[in-house]
Amino acid sequence: MNRKDHWEHVYSTGTIEKLGWYEPHLQTSLDWIKELSSDADAPIIDVGGGASTLADDLLHAGYRSVTVLDISARALKAIKTRMGKEAELVTWIEGDITSVELPTNHYELWHDRAVFHFLTIPEQQQKYRENLSKALKPDGSLIIGTFALEAPPKCSGLPIQRYSPKRLGDTLGREFVLKRHRKELHITPSGVEQMYLYCHLQKNT
Ligand SMILES: C[S@@+](CC[C@H](N)C(=O)[O-])C[C@H]1O[C@@H](n2cnc3c(N)ncnc32)[C@H](O)[C@@H]1O
Repeated sequence: MNRKDHWEHVYSTGTIEKLGWYEPHLQTSLDWIKELSSDADAPIIDVGGGASTLADDLLHAGYRSVTVLDISARALKAIKTRMGKEAELVTWIEGDITSVELPTNHYELWHDRAVFHFLTIPEQQQKYRENLSKALKPDGSLIIGTFALEAPPKCSGLPIQRYSPKRLGDTLGREFVLKRHRKELHITPSGVEQMYLYCHLQKNT
């Protein structure tokens, strides 16, 4: 099964609230975004946003330029249905982050929770980095949540790359400077412990 088929299948079965990564609100992400971005018009992209409530929460916090990108049409359909009329205030992109065309130097903040860690092959990581580097403005912020070293080796049944702050910094390269990190224990709806690592990195000017 290819990557897109995997994710379409994931979102075709069961309810969103039962997915392993589900949280009612991505509170750490939201808190960090609010700290980092005081401009309500700052373009923010949530890469692999799935059906999370981050887009809703960002709109409610006053942000007016929110983009959600995901490989799964079903995930985007689910979130749009949930948001109803508010969905019209968000820009939606259906695409694979390793190949989708994004605008140059456009976003002030790039958010990714539990997406980059699925890229276990250096060539895929390189493609992600190229898109990140192109689309994020100089000085822009990257908030990225991956599984930490002590987390399970798989997520959603797929092998993942686990990270320490140093390993993530090394993988993203010198263009990005690590500003802050924290670990956070996530318990899946079925009771499995998954330690996440959240990092804030800033793109060099
Ligand atoms: C583990 S879920 C996390 C969803 C959301 N970020 C959250 O924290 O609730 C991973 C999401 O990334 C999407 N995804 C996986 N690989 C992707 C890729 N290469 N490009 C874009 N989206 C991808 C999946 O469809 C899924 O919605």
